[in-house]
Amino acid sequence: MQAAVVDVGARYDALAATYDRPNYDPRSALYWEIVERLTWELSAPFLPAPGVDAPVLDAGGGTGKWALRFAELGHHVSLLDVSAGMLEAAREKVNATPRRDQVSLHRGTIESLPFSDATFAFTFCDGDPLSYCHTTYRGALRELVRVTRPGAFLVIGVDNAAITASDLVVAAALREFQGTGTARCPYGMPVHAFTPVEVSELARSVSCSLAGLYGKPLFWSRVSAVLARMAGERPPRAWADSIVAEQLWLNHAGYGSAGDHLHIVLRKG
Ligand SMILES: C[S@@+](CC[C@H](N)C(=O)[O-])C[C@H]1O[C@@H](n2cnc3c(N)ncnc32)[C@H](O)[C@@H]1O
Repeated sequence: MQAAVVDVGARYDALAATYDRPNYDPRSALYWEIVERLTWELSAPFLPAPGVDAPVLDAGGGTGKWALRFAELGHHVSLLDVSAGMLEAAREKVNATPRRDQVSLHRGTIESLPFSDATFAFTFCDGDPLSYCHTTYRGALRELVRVTRPGAFLVIGVDNAAITASDLVVAAALREFQGTGTARCPYGMPVHAFTPVEVSELARSVSCSLAGLYGKPLFWSRVSAVLARMAGERPPRAWADSIVAEQLWLNHAGYGSAGDHLHIVLRKG
């Protein structure tokens, strides 16, 4: 892939106003609902007991969707993001809740976190911020681990190379992707997509154990085909519960590396 200078912060500034209200068709809305519910189910077990002594980092936290959810459970959260626009949207939402004193907002990059070593009792980085660090992800991961306390968990959501490779039908683009691991996100920005082998190697390189590798969602083209046969364009709402249960079962049965996105759980050694 040609190196392209893309200012991720500026791109997300432009997306910030509509980020929380995407114009999804019913199928895409169901897809993202399943992804979000899996994200929660596969993250919540790793949270510490809430309290001011167990601060949580939401790195690349965007408009604060997850930071606010953590705060509702009683956690004290530092939300960091490179985009001033996304942070402004987060500020409005945070200020409108009774949890406003529990969430602090920080403009910065994951590659150079403005926090001391071993500050956080839980580090969260979902929605591909580490993939956006497409040439700097090793250093960015080192930073996430540096600010996390020994023994604490990090949850990191990234693009999966298997799915990215399957989407690249043009042979030249596929060859380039296989050489670099860099592809483009739906917004056109370069992203690094990870393989399970790479994730294991990265975990070792930062002295973390790989506590879980999950996928969200799994085998979606099959789920989608079943839904299409059964319901036409609008899947019944109640089906979301059974799809989430099926996806959790598949994840706990070991199929996680087949997910559209990889949900990585690390424990700092
Ligand atoms: C897809 S959004 C996800 C936001 C949020 N985590 C969520 O799940 O709703 C990706 C976010 O990562 C941020 N981001 C990308 N690269 C970053 C970096 N190097 N440092 C900090 N934030 C970054 C973007 O500005 C954007 O807000």
